[in-house]
Amino acid sequence: MEDKKVIWITGASTGIGKALALKFAKIGWIVAVSARRENLLEELNKENSNIHPFPLDVTNIEQCKSVFKDILERFKNIEICVFCTGIHDPKSEKKFNLEKIRKIMEVNYFGVMNSINSIYEYYNTKKSGQISIVSSVAGYRGLPAAGAYCASKSALTSFTESLHFEMKRKNVRVSLISPGFIKTPMTDQNDFPMPMIRSPEFAAEQIYSGLIKKSGFEIHFPKVFTFFMKFLRILPSSIYFKFIEKGMKRINY
Ligand SMILES: NC(=O)c1ccc[n+]([C@@H]2O[C@H](COP(=O)([O-])OP(=O)(O)OC[C@H]3O[C@@H](n4cnc5c(N)ncnc54)[C@H](OP(=O)(O)O)[C@@H]3O)[C@@H](O)[C@H]2O)c1
Repeated sequence: MEDKKVIWITGASTGIGKALALKFAKIGWIVAVSARRENLLEELNKENSNIHPFPLDVTNIEQCKSVFKDILERFKNIEICVFCTGIHDPKSEKKFNLEKIRKIMEVNYFGVMNSINSIYEYYNTKKSGQISIVSSVAGYRGLPAAGAYCASKSALTSFTESLHFEMKRKNVRVSLISPGFIKTPMTDQNDFPMPMIRSPEFAAEQIYSGLIKKSGFEIHFPKVFTFFMKFLRILPSSIYFKFIEKGMKRINY
């Protein structure tokens, strides 16, 4: 076991995090997986014994610290941490809802901050390895009926860029993961057509290739869609708004 590399993935009970855990486990990494639903993490362990459950609610600061301590005590050396937890509530986003906005921020933004807080000193001393944060192309610009989600991802993307500057000096790679639409329980809630939607396994392959590279900041996919979203980001607001409004009319949203 000592020879195997170790990765910690949060948000690994379903969707992208789960597919990524299976990908790394299949090629022989030790994978510590976290999320709230312990039974789903146990199922992953039954599927592949390289996967080890460490149940966690990322909104709990102390639990984040103690879970990472447990992982470190067990495996000694952690190579990569991927923070993949996230929630979206498209129904609540159609109208301003302060409670939901706070909840989404609490998980998507502060949940990741709590996770980073738990590993910060370790990577400061280690001076190698990688911290990777799953944001979204939804963080590029404000999208209709997704204000809380877009804002949480936009904050996450900016924070990750800032963290890159700091950790580079300590020889720790920071990477940002910006997926387009991936079919998961999260996107199953959407009631509109999702262009170029891909499978969680596709996402896992893309993320794996990006993570094992020696360098690079943003891992984004599928490329045709994400480059288009990058193009929308540089448009003046007036053109961007017209373009999105036209699209919404077309799908009657
Ligand atoms: N699917 C897409 O199209 C897409 C696109 C761009 C970005 N993303 C991002 O990719 C990440 C994964 O999303 P997904 O699509 O794979 O959705 P998903 O299947 O719903 O996965 C979300 C994961 O987050 C975990 N989670 C939620 N709240 C948590 C909490 N308080 N503490 C610990 N874990 C928590 C969930 O596990 P438990 O419920 O068991 O805790 C689950 O494992 C998210 O950050 C999402 O924003 C997704």
